[in-house]
Amino acid sequence: MIPRTPEPELMDEAEQARAYAEADFDEPNAAFIERVEAVLEAHPVPAEARVVDLGCGPADIAVRLAERHPGWRVDAIDGAAAMLAHAKRAADAAGVGDRLRLVRGRLPEAPSEVPVGGYDLVLSNSLLHHLPEPDVLWRTIDRIARPGAPIVVMDLFRPEDEGTLDRLVETYAADAPPVLRRDFRASLHAAFTVEEVRAQLGACAASLEVRACSDRHLLVRGTR
Ligand SMILES: C[S@@+](CC[C@H](N)C(=O)[O-])C[C@H]1O[C@@H](n2cnc3c(N)ncnc32)[C@H](O)[C@@H]1O
Repeated sequence: MIPRTPEPELMDEAEQARAYAEADFDEPNAAFIERVEAVLEAHPVPAEARVVDLGCGPADIAVRLAERHPGWRVDAIDGAAAMLAHAKRAADAAGVGDRLRLVRGRLPEAPSEVPVGGYDLVLSNSLLHHLPEPDVLWRTIDRIARPGAPIVVMDLFRPEDEGTLDRLVETYAADAPPVLRRDFRASLHAAFTVEEVRAQLGACAASLEVRACSDRHLLVRGTR
């Protein structure tokens, strides 16, 4: 197993944020949303749910969910101003800016807008591997989810060896701009394994389970 190499936490470079915002993440983002909807079948939330997306980046997922659920009020939180600028454009273009609040905050510091125990649904995609200390995500979820709230977290998992990592970069980022290829490679090195995440969840008050859900993604789901 290759060792974990953390990558820079925030994606605050203008070129990096632009390349990420312009990249085609339709397949993993649509898959994430399908998984959220599956969790909601088992654990429904109110039509006017308060929802949070941690590490929202350019907010493609938050925007799609706000479009699908017209009653939801979605908070999309990220520490990178460069990403939130793209998120604002996406929210405005989709006409959901009135129900999608963009919040600049670097976890674990909770911006004052973030309610303790106030969210009916907590989501996060591809944030975990950016965190030097993964407990930051799990402690944040424990703090801000209301008791019983469904939780869905998806992230990359670290490949077994460099050969597998090279193949994933070639398969999924062959035609990507150099900055995106660099970041994808760094993210795979920074990601946790399913076993590492399972160990992290032991300290979490929420009841969560983790499994691999694609050749490069893991899924954590459960309730607070
Ligand atoms: C790989 S992007 C994922 C963006 C989005 N969730 C998606 O699925 O496309 C990770 C995001 O997490 C943000 N981030 C990293 N560490 C953070 C922290 N401690 N608090 C808030 N945001 C953070 C980065 O700035 C970046 O925008």
